[in-house]
Amino acid sequence: MALTTDILKDSIGRNHNYLRISITEKCNLRCTYCMPAEGVPLSPSPELMTANEIYEIAKIFVANGVNKIRLTGGEPLVRKDFTEIIEKLSTLDVSIAMTTNAVNIDRYISNLKKFKVSIINVSLDTLKVNRFQEMTLKPNFDKVIKNIYMLINEGFQIKLNVVLLKGTNDSEILDFIELTKELPISIRFIEFMPFDGNNWDRSKAVSLEEIKQLVNESYPKEAVLKIEDAPNDTAKNYKIKNYKGSFAVISTVTNPFCDSCNRLRLTANGRLRNCLFSEKESDLLTAFRKGESIEPIIQKAVLAKAAVRAGLDTYEKFADPNHHSKNRSMITIGG
Ligand code: GTP
Ligand code: 5AD
Ligand code: SF4
Repeated sequence: MALTTDILKDSIGRNHNYLRISITEKCNLRCTYCMPAEGVPLSPSPELMTANEIYEIAKIFVANGVNKIRLTGGEPLVRKDFTEIIEKLSTLDVSIAMTTNAVNIDRYISNLKKFKVSIINVSLDTLKVNRFQEMTLKPNFDKVIKNIYMLINEGFQIKLNVVLLKGTNDSEILDFIELTKELPISIRFIEFMPFDGNNWDRSKAVSLEEIKQLVNESYPKEAVLKIEDAPNDTAKNYKIKNYKGSFAVISTVTNPFCDSCNRLRLTANGRLRNCLFSEKESDLLTAFRKGESIEPIIQKAVLAKAAVRAGLDTYEKFADPNHHSKNRSMITIGG
């Protein structure tokens, strides 16, 4: 039953209609910017949401106005009941997207189509086989590339997420943009963000301004077109004239986009995070298992949301290492 009160509206009027659900804390890659080398402590399995709990909790969000759900991880496809989860969610009036490393996505093509998961963001930080091994600590480059082409040929809408690290893969910015000459995909360069155990330091992040400068030096002025950003978009979008695809920058570090934020996050162990950078989480799963209403908890968390980056509103506060260890590792938030 839809409530008449807007429990997903925050104190400054932002309406949260996009729920990101992390369905697992595990991943089959080991990207160093995403997780500490020693791994992360995993929640015991009884503390993780079951497929049915994911569905029932999602249903409550949808009844209150969520119209887009993105499944994240870890890597969502390592969860054995992934198909059951999308099958259940497909019965809700909501669009379903996912963010994946695409290592195993070839096994899921028909079910993704059947259950209408058509918007797929793929993490790929390099176009070089050796560098893939260096950045992910795994040898799956050829498989990932093959799967990306398969997804495009099968008609999925693809965005490629590229986290840029200075001195590691920033030399590939133009190579990624050139991919969009023939491929109808969106490349999204992401500024490297700080989380627990990922050794963030400001000198490793490549900024929106640096990317814009490189692009402006590399293409004629009239060939670089700014395209309109979708409402609530995390990215600032551009394209090169006559290219089939586009490219964008997600500039959380140097140019946060929090005024249009419409996102809430649910972790695999059923905690609600009102911001990617929130130190506090609200335990929905325990209340749900006790049969209590979770709506008041959701509303309280939404009303507590800060205007910008969980209160880290200046670059100085954001770059302060004292905060970084207070934020879960990215692998357990899901981006
Ligand atoms: P679309 O739904 O296609 O716009 O994707 P998305 O950008 O919401 O999701 P994706 O999982 O592909 O994330 C790409 C990058 O954007 C990751 O580095 C995320 O951490 C970052 N990102 C996603 N949502 C937010 C957000 O609400 N705030 C911030 N600061 N970054 C976000
Ligand atoms: N900074 C920026 N983006 C990150 N991601 C993971 N860790 C970081 C980080 N430290 C990205 C992944 C994935 C998305 C969900 O988040 O590459 O594409
Ligand atoms: Fe929303 Fe927090 Fe991301 Fe800002 S940093 S856009 S408030 S999730």
